[in-house]
Amino acid sequence: MKGQILVIDDEKNITFVIQAILERAGYETLVYNDSSEALRAIDSEDVNVVITDLYMPGPGGMEILEHCAKNHPQLPVVIITAYGTVESAVSALKRGAFDFITKPFEQTDLLSVVQKALATYHQRQKEPIFLDRDLSRDTSLEATSGAAKGTASHQDSPTISISSIVGSSAQMQEIFKVIGKIAASPSTVLIWGESGTGKELVAFEIHRNSSRADKPFIKINCAAIPSTLIESELFGYEKGAFTGAVGSKPGRFELAHDGTLFLDEVAEMPLEMQVKLLRVLQEQEFERVGGVSTIKVDVRIVAATNKDLEAEARAGRFREDLFYRLNVVPIHIPPLRERKQDIELLVRYFLRQFNSKLKKEITAISPQALEALIAYHWPGNIRQLENALERMVLMSDGAVITAHELPEEIAALLPPSGAADSGDDSDQSPTTFKEKVKKQTQTLERGLIEKALEETSGNVTRAASILGLSRKGLQLKIKELGLKRPLD
Ligand SMILES: Nc1ncnc2c1ncn2[C@@H]1O[C@H](COP(=O)(O)OP(=O)(O)OP(=O)(O)O)[C@@H](O)[C@H]1O
Ligand SMILES: [Mg+2]
Repeated sequence: MKGQILVIDDEKNITFVIQAILERAGYETLVYNDSSEALRAIDSEDVNVVITDLYMPGPGGMEILEHCAKNHPQLPVVIITAYGTVESAVSALKRGAFDFITKPFEQTDLLSVVQKALATYHQRQKEPIFLDRDLSRDTSLEATSGAAKGTASHQDSPTISISSIVGSSAQMQEIFKVIGKIAASPSTVLIWGESGTGKELVAFEIHRNSSRADKPFIKINCAAIPSTLIESELFGYEKGAFTGAVGSKPGRFELAHDGTLFLDEVAEMPLEMQVKLLRVLQEQEFERVGGVSTIKVDVRIVAATNKDLEAEARAGRFREDLFYRLNVVPIHIPPLRERKQDIELLVRYFLRQFNSKLKKEITAISPQALEALIAYHWPGNIRQLENALERMVLMSDGAVITAHELPEEIAALLPPSGAADSGDDSDQSPTTFKEKVKKQTQTLERGLIEKALEETSGNVTRAASILGLSRKGLQLKIKELGLKRPLD
C-alpha cells in the first residue's frame, strides 16, 4: 500500500474524482461527504494524509485542520479551495495546513501534493514526539535547526528560534509568529518591504527554522544579473548551449535541491523568465539551457521585493499568475519609522556587536543621542541604522556614545541649543508644556523637511511643493530649525 488518504468534501462529484485519481495511482482512500463522520474516522483509522474542502455543512476545513494539529500533529492536511479564495487558503497555511489545491485542479497537481504530503508524514514519523503534543512538531523543528530558546511565545505559535532578528514591536512579533507557523511547510513565501528592512534576514530565518535547515540556502539577486544570463543562472546550461559555454554548469535551482531558493528583487525578473519560473514552481522540474533531459528538484521558494508586486502585476509589469503563485504566504516588513519601538533595542544590539567587532568598550548612549536616533525617519531602514552606529562606535573616544558622534543629518534633529551634549546629561530638556509642544513640533517639522529634501535630492523648490510651502517659507524654516542648507 502506498498510503491511506482520507478525503472530505460535501460535494460527491469532487470526492468521486479525487478518489478515482488517487486509486488509479495506487493509494487507498477513505472518502467522506459528512465532515463529522470524517473527524471520527481521523481518530480511529490509520490515515497518512487528509485532503479536505474548506466550506462544508458541519465542521469546516479549518476545524478539521485544528483537530489534526492538536491530536495528530504528524498528519499533513491539504486544503481544497475554490478559485479566487486564495486568502482563506493562506490563513489555512498559517494555521499549519500542509498545502492547498485550487478547484478545478489538474490530476498532476493533486498527485504531486499528495506525494509530498506522504513523504512529510513519513519524515515526521521518524521525529521524536514530545509529551506536549501541541508543540511536538515545533520541538522537532528545534531539534533539526539546532535552535535554542524561542522568541515567539504566543500560545498557538511554535517555539522557534529567531535569534538574529531583533524586534519587540507588535509588527515584528506578528512576523515572528508567522515565521513560526510557516517555516516547516514547503509553501512559497513572498517578503515585501523597503530596502534595508531585513527581508534577507527573514528569508534566512524561515530556512533555518525549517526541516531544510541543513540543506542549502541559495540566493539569486534578479536585479544584479543581466536579463540574458538569468536563465542560465537559474537553470544551468549544457556544454555548447551558447558561445562561451565550454563546459556544463548546474543552475541555482539544482544547487538548492532539498533546500531553499531565495529569489531576491523578484520584481526585476524579465517577463519572459517569469513564464519559465512559473512552470518550475508548478511542476518542480526544468531543463538546463541547451539540455534535453528534465531535471526534477524539491525546492522551497522564498521571494523578496521592495516593490508592490500586486500593483506591478496590475500594471502589466509582472505576471499575475506568478504573483499569486509566489504570494501564498505574504510577509510585509514595515519600515523602521513605522515601528520606532524597535529602535532602542536595535541600538543596544548593534552597539554590543560593534563593541566586539571593533574592539571597543562602549557602555552607554546619552539620552539625547538616543532621542535623535528615535526621531530620525531612517529612509534606509535598519541597514542605515546599522551603518550609522558602526561609524559612531568607531568615532567615539569614551565609553559613552553622545550626540557629538551623530551623523549630521541626525544631529540636525536636536534642538539647536543642545545640538551636542557632552554625555554628562546636564538637563536642558524642556519643562513647561508650551516648550514641550514646541520641541515636538520642531522635531516633526524637521523630520518632514528632511524627508522631502531627501526625496528631491535637496531641491528646495520641489521639496517646498511636496510640503505645501512656498520656496521662501521653506528656506526660512530650514534656517529657523538650524538644518543644513542643501545645495540648490
Ligand atoms: N530586525 C533586525 N534585527 C537585526 N538586524 C537586522 C534586522 N533587520 C535588518 N537587520 C540587518 O540590517 C541589514 C539589512 O538587512 P537585509 O539585507 O535583510 O535587508 P533587505 O530588506 O534585504 O534590504 P535590500 O532590499 O536593500 O536588499 C543586515 O545587515 C541585517 O542583518
Ligand atoms: Mg536584500
